[in-house]
Amino acid sequence: MQKLYCHLLLLSLSSLSHLTLAHPWPWTQTQRQFNQPTNYEGSSNLVDLQYHMGPILSSPINLYIVWYGSHWNPNHQSTIRDFLYSLSSPAPPPSVADWWRTIRLYTDQTGSNITGNIILSGEFYDSTNSHGNYLTRLTIQSIIKTAVTSYPRGLPLNYENGLYLVLTSSEILVQDFCRAVCGFHYFSFPAIVGVTVPYAWVGYSGTQCPGMCAYPFAWPKDSGKPPPETSGGVMGSPNGDAGVDGMISVIAHELAEVSSNPLVNAWYAGDDPTAPDEIADICVGVYGSGGGGGYVGQVYKDSWGNGFNVNGVRGRKFLVQWVWDPVKGRCFGPNAMD
Ligand SMILES: *[C@@H]1O[C@H](CO)[C@@H](O)[C@H](O)[C@H]1NC(C)=O
Repeated sequence: MQKLYCHLLLLSLSSLSHLTLAHPWPWTQTQRQFNQPTNYEGSSNLVDLQYHMGPILSSPINLYIVWYGSHWNPNHQSTIRDFLYSLSSPAPPPSVADWWRTIRLYTDQTGSNITGNIILSGEFYDSTNSHGNYLTRLTIQSIIKTAVTSYPRGLPLNYENGLYLVLTSSEILVQDFCRAVCGFHYFSFPAIVGVTVPYAWVGYSGTQCPGMCAYPFAWPKDSGKPPPETSGGVMGSPNGDAGVDGMISVIAHELAEVSSNPLVNAWYAGDDPTAPDEIADICVGVYGSGGGGGYVGQVYKDSWGNGFNVNGVRGRKFLVQWVWDPVKGRCFGPNAMD
């Protein structure tokens, strides 16, 4: 879950308290912030990440995508699929699978590590928007219910090692999306889905709030800060769509957190279990060495000048934020310079 850091540019104090009240129970979510007051890259004294004895995702993960909304474009979908395939496939270093290696360093009380196998096991197209165009946080669970009960092309209800990823297209409004969150993860309630399974939701932000959720490929106009790249404005996106390339890092963030804290009782920092800082929350906005406080860190440029920090399958390049490395005690990614 995303503890709401003092986000001086985008959120006023009154909106912060409103957001806190709006959460009736703990959700783990992602907020982009680019002026995070503390640079955690290279410092561990401020982070108190602890294991709270709950399960992690140590068995091979069967990942199921629900494409919700009628505005999905096949190019966007293939970018996202290639990213998911890249999590457990070889690619030139530093690779997406190398990035996942940091997440595999987390263990549970039996000593089992988070799995390195993430298998894209099914996709469901909810292009008629079965639950409408405005979704509450709870409706995401109803969308999963619809996907696993549809006939004949429904997804299996895999409560042993399933993980459901609900992705909403540009026209879909989601509660708190673009105001407090870019994505979140949680687990389903038996009363809605029938079983408890971990899931995550990430929205396409390209039209609704690229400056917040597709950072650093877009930059909020009212931020009062200059674009991060001095030449040519904002950073170019490596797969040609800022909204999708921004989603990739949010998907990566949520997958890292749902794997290390699927029932919200395993790995997180902070004293408040209803507002935990999880392994990716701690490193939001950091993509390379020296990152933090509004600077993305040292990343690479492709031949068109677009930013990336990891390689994937089929020659793809992606920019994914770093996560907390429990061994090194700092935010880390495979493109680190040290
Ligand atoms: C499992 O986690 C431990 C503790 O972080 C680490 O030393 C070990 O290398 C990890 N194993 C794998 C396969 O990542």
